[in-house]
Amino acid sequence: MDRVLSGMRPTGKLHLGHLHGVLQNWKELQDKYECFYFVADWHALTTDYKISHEIKNNTIEMVADWLAVGLNPEKSTLFIQSKVKEHAELHLLLSMITPLGWLERNPTYKEMKNEIKNKDINNYGFLGYPVLQTADIIIYHAKYVPVGMDQIPHLELSREIARRFNFIYKTNFFIEPEPILTDFAKIPGIDGRKMSKSYNNAIFISDKGKDLEKKVLNLVTDTHRVRRTDPGDPERCLAYNFHKIYCTENELEMINKECPKAGIGCFDCKKILLKRISEKLAPIQEKREKYISNKNLILDILEEGSNKAKKIAKETVDKVNEIIGLKY
Ligand code: TRP
Ligand code: SF4
Repeated sequence: MDRVLSGMRPTGKLHLGHLHGVLQNWKELQDKYECFYFVADWHALTTDYKISHEIKNNTIEMVADWLAVGLNPEKSTLFIQSKVKEHAELHLLLSMITPLGWLERNPTYKEMKNEIKNKDINNYGFLGYPVLQTADIIIYHAKYVPVGMDQIPHLELSREIARRFNFIYKTNFFIEPEPILTDFAKIPGIDGRKMSKSYNNAIFISDKGKDLEKKVLNLVTDTHRVRRTDPGDPERCLAYNFHKIYCTENELEMINKECPKAGIGCFDCKKILLKRISEKLAPIQEKREKYISNKNLILDILEEGSNKAKKIAKETVDKVNEIIGLKY
């Protein structure tokens, strides 16, 4: 069976953007491939080394969401990067053969250097971010890497580094990983920008009750619809992006019929949405709470996964040392 690998930096609890964009996809891949999903805690450190003490708790909160959504440790290997030290060893060895120019020209790097003002990323580790990411992937000979558009340049670098290793050491040991692009109906944040924790516009998987109600009922609707009697257009309505994901065909049909003739008010329309989102999240939240109330269970799952991952990673690194002539 081909291998799939992907990782996420531990940012704490996840939101609906993660749920529909990433986790759903990871979950489906479990049945078709041998999957490895890991917490990229060292990658978190490249930008957040000053708040390193938050990483562990963020890991637990994030993996609680993974498990609640249906990532299954019986099917997939769930692990923590820093528990498999071989990633660091391979990163070091790959760093020797990675031309500086490749890293300096990396578009993600250039963009982040310009955009991130609130954190210091002027460090060696951050420049090497894609080299570590390459080690993460090729250490398992992963064939496919499910990622979003933003990670495509990184993956291209991984392919180039793998190719260069093979070329320099005259081997075909590493395979070049291919992306599986997660293409999904992009879900906006509650302010219309991309949903992101740092924009403060996210609906979290764990949101419920009054919190969820406030976020959903406050969603901006068609701004042309000032009065209840004004006709609206779902295509101009921010909330409707959510309806499209959560409501039934019948509900969508009704909304498309009634909204343009002011047959339904926005409040009632968003009430329907709220009900559907709550229904969808309820079973996930129930599972999440079970895990969160038993953090040791989460840590045990990750420990076991890390041990499994380590066996493979160690084999790879032993072989790499042999290939480059450092076997004593
Ligand atoms: N860079 C990825 C992100 O920001 C996380 C990541 C680290 C990753 N290592 C990886 C993703 C290996 C896929 C494969 O989300
Ligand atoms: Fe949006 Fe529904 Fe209001 Fe129409 S009725 S503008 S779809 S919230």
